[in-house]
Amino acid sequence: MKKGMIFDLDGVIVDTAFYHFKAWQYLAKQIDIDFDATFNETLKGISRIESLEKILHYGNKADVFSVAEKNALMDSKNDYYVKSLSKLTEKNILPGVLPFIKQAKKKKIPCAIASASKNATMILEQLNIKDYFNVIVDPHSLSKGKPDPEIFLTAANLIDVLPNEAIGFEDSQAGITALNSANIFSVGISSKDNLVGADLRVDSFEKINFEQLLCL
Ligand code: BG6
Ligand code: MG
Repeated sequence: MKKGMIFDLDGVIVDTAFYHFKAWQYLAKQIDIDFDATFNETLKGISRIESLEKILHYGNKADVFSVAEKNALMDSKNDYYVKSLSKLTEKNILPGVLPFIKQAKKKKIPCAIASASKNATMILEQLNIKDYFNVIVDPHSLSKGKPDPEIFLTAANLIDVLPNEAIGFEDSQAGITALNSANIFSVGISSKDNLVGADLRVDSFEKINFEQLLCL
């Protein structure tokens, strides 16, 4: 039986993955780099700085900006992103998530958030769902980001379950790879057939049978 659940945030709990995409596209345009949704898939799950480095590399501008300039670019992206979140409400919670986490709460299954986002706590508060989670892993406390398993192993430890007793939910390839490296059962949330190695793939939480999942 599984005893704990670990959730990514962006693209799993709430539809903010799209807002990240739009904010990075906006920023990239300022420095004459254009990218599409396919390239954006490679940005999912990774940190702000890693995303910027990837975009600069993609646009052949890897060595163009100083550290201070890169910080300014990240601030600009984050300002745009945070502004776009101002209208975020419970309607932006992805289908089936709320009944699912309510069921976990009812069954006293500890839940953790393992997101690379430094905006995670603010978003959970804005959506009025922070209290469903026993733990929010602080990405500042980690030495490596996804696809390294560190964030998921930290989350499992904090909710006091062994990795093989936990289930992790992810919408990014980096996250699925991290879960698999951590030996945590990986559930890929995606409407496309794109999450290589996911132990289970569903297009939404509505498709998951809670009781059956615990026994997988
Ligand atoms: C992840 C997103 O959850 O958080 C990435 O999938 C994002 O796209 C990363 O870059 C960092 O987020 P933030 O909010 O700290 O810039
Ligand atoms: Mg995500």
